[in-house]
Amino acid sequence: MKKLVFATNNAHKLREVREMLEGEITVLSLADIGCSETIPETADTLQGNALIKARYIKTHYGYDCFADDTGLQVVQLGGRPGVYSARYAGEECDPEKNMQKLLGELEGIDDRRASFITVVALIQGEEEKIFEGEVKGRILEEKQGSEGFGYDPLFVPDGYEESFAQLGEETKNHISHRARAMQKMKEYLLGK
Ligand code: IMP
Repeated sequence: MKKLVFATNNAHKLREVREMLEGEITVLSLADIGCSETIPETADTLQGNALIKARYIKTHYGYDCFADDTGLQVVQLGGRPGVYSARYAGEECDPEKNMQKLLGELEGIDDRRASFITVVALIQGEEEKIFEGEVKGRILEEKQGSEGFGYDPLFVPDGYEESFAQLGEETKNHISHRARAMQKMKEYLLGK
């Protein structure tokens, strides 16, 4: 089976992606290759950050690999927080503070449309490829559910009445931004 390193320190993402690629691609973690450093994310686009992370692993460790970067784009906030979703409420990447800031900014606003967008950068040998996935939905007035991570308790995907944190990993892994990007990468890798 094909082996690829997934350049993330996020245990939730790693579990989601391993489940999505199960039986088709073996996904190695950064711990599996002895990488414990924090990879800097200094670009101002999702694609730029995904490429930085994947190139870092290729350059320093030599493995074929992929990395993802995700942003939450809220229509009435002009697409914010977007590429700055992780540090929306400050440098320390605190999901609770990020969600509170989002609820504060949307207070009194009826139009709560938003999208999650994931960009995946895949590096195999000298070749770099980009895949994108998007899921549209809306931001709740208050948090609901306890599964998932990040902004999941506030995001209801179109066609559903529950948040990603209520729908659970199995449903999220079929319809999410990351699932859609991973599906494209899988089709490319396996020629399906
Ligand atoms: P990054 O892709 O790890 O840089 O994530 C950017 C921000 O979006 C962080 O605050 C994450 O917690 C959040 N995020 C990334 N993926 C998801 C997801 O699948 N659900 C909810 N929040 C997410």
